[in-house]
Amino acid sequence: MVASKYAKCELMQSEFTQRANHVPALGPGLSVDVYSPEVLQLVGAFGEAGLHPGYLEVFKATTSAMHWVRRQLPGIPLTYHGEGLWTTQPDFPRSNSGRQGVEEACAQLAALNSAWLNHECATKQMAGYAFGTYLPPLYTELSARVTAENVTFLQGQVDALARQAAVDPALVLLEMPPLTYFGCGAITIPRFFRLVAEQSACGVVLDIGHLWTVYRYTGACRRQTVEAFVAEFLDEFPMERVIEIHVAGLAEFSTGEERVSTAGAIDRPYWIDTHGAPIPALLFEMLAQVLAHPRLRRLKGVALEVDTKPIAMIVEEYRRFVTRFSTSITEVQQHGQAASHVSSCSEPALAIHEGGSLTAAERTELQRQYQAYVREVATGSALPATEEWSLLGGASEDLLRYRTTYLPYELLHWGGELQDMFPKTCGLLAEAQVSLEQFVPVWFSRPRPEQDDYDFFLLKIDRFVEFVEQWCSRAALVARQEAGELRDAYRAANEPIGSMGECV
Ligand SMILES: [Fe+2]
Repeated sequence: MVASKYAKCELMQSEFTQRANHVPALGPGLSVDVYSPEVLQLVGAFGEAGLHPGYLEVFKATTSAMHWVRRQLPGIPLTYHGEGLWTTQPDFPRSNSGRQGVEEACAQLAALNSAWLNHECATKQMAGYAFGTYLPPLYTELSARVTAENVTFLQGQVDALARQAAVDPALVLLEMPPLTYFGCGAITIPRFFRLVAEQSACGVVLDIGHLWTVYRYTGACRRQTVEAFVAEFLDEFPMERVIEIHVAGLAEFSTGEERVSTAGAIDRPYWIDTHGAPIPALLFEMLAQVLAHPRLRRLKGVALEVDTKPIAMIVEEYRRFVTRFSTSITEVQQHGQAASHVSSCSEPALAIHEGGSLTAAERTELQRQYQAYVREVATGSALPATEEWSLLGGASEDLLRYRTTYLPYELLHWGGELQDMFPKTCGLLAEAQVSLEQFVPVWFSRPRPEQDDYDFFLLKIDRFVEFVEQWCSRAALVARQEAGELRDAYRAANEPIGSMGECV
């Protein structure tokens, strides 16, 4: 059995190496949004500052927007940061995400002529429940096997659609996601990614800010220095699969009214992944440590993730970044080009299963665990602890912070302020003394069948109408009218994306 595990791991490593050999080395770059800040303005400001990023990684927008960016920036290599491909979820291959979502991603990859498809190893939809921001997977062996099989399925779809379009297939990359105050599982996060790498040929993205949140919210910060944590983490993490590194801002979450408590947080702030915030100096120290790692041999790019950040700050941070790191990035890439195939499979980490195909029962079992995960983290009242997984070493108050502060804020204010979206309805609710806070338990009261397309804004409209129907029937008609207007306005607001392509 050990021999077969070893053989599978070797096969995956060898397939990865072949694919990685086709990915060009792109050097320092930027991970951007098409609109925020507007990408041409950003590139123009860089040109004026005498800075020339090696590549732009473009976050998912519409396919016509991707064509438009490709035409507008003919001289810059473009790569793709996908969204909405929930490969951590057991139902991925037969879900809308795994079908229409993958088709759309492939169209956008082709539009950009991207060498890779990067996606967070995280989800906003699980077991019929939707979230506004990413939740990490359950860090368990079963979950790693499901993710690996789904990623292999995704790579197969990307290959097939690339063949149809007569373009080179992009390499699928999984990005280690951030922890927003907590993580759940039964194995360490680097071990999870090692298991996925042993059972699939994917590349990996290591985000330095995300790494800091793992240090902060798995309790490692209470027992070791950042340097010691990073060294230990990288030892287990599949560094030989790292194709790209991200660096982005971190900041404490604010409701806009008052800051979440920062008591005792001088050395351990409650930072979470925040692309619009400045990059803490500490992250560049961690980056230096990562770039010096001996197994980092397939690196193709290091990007600052700068969506939603002021352009002047982006330019200043990028200048500091390339001044310090462009030489070492080039050196790491050159070492990688000289390196031959390196096996990392002498001791496959896969211990329990043979690595064969998953059974339907195993997928069903993981689905059941994700239902419990939603219940425990979103609506539970105690620490999560099941037979299969528990909190990954963080403090109970950190999970409470997510459950009682971050999650309600996300549902009530993020992706559309309810008071602004439904002003008349909210007035009627206030008269009837129905609190908007009641919306949160209604949101999680039951799983909903998957929608055609995940869109948090549209989901929020639908769910809010249901909430009003349930809690204040006399406001229901007004809520339905306002919902209709919102949907129309949303469709109209998305129209200019199409016309963007036509006016070029
Ligand atoms: Fe990232």
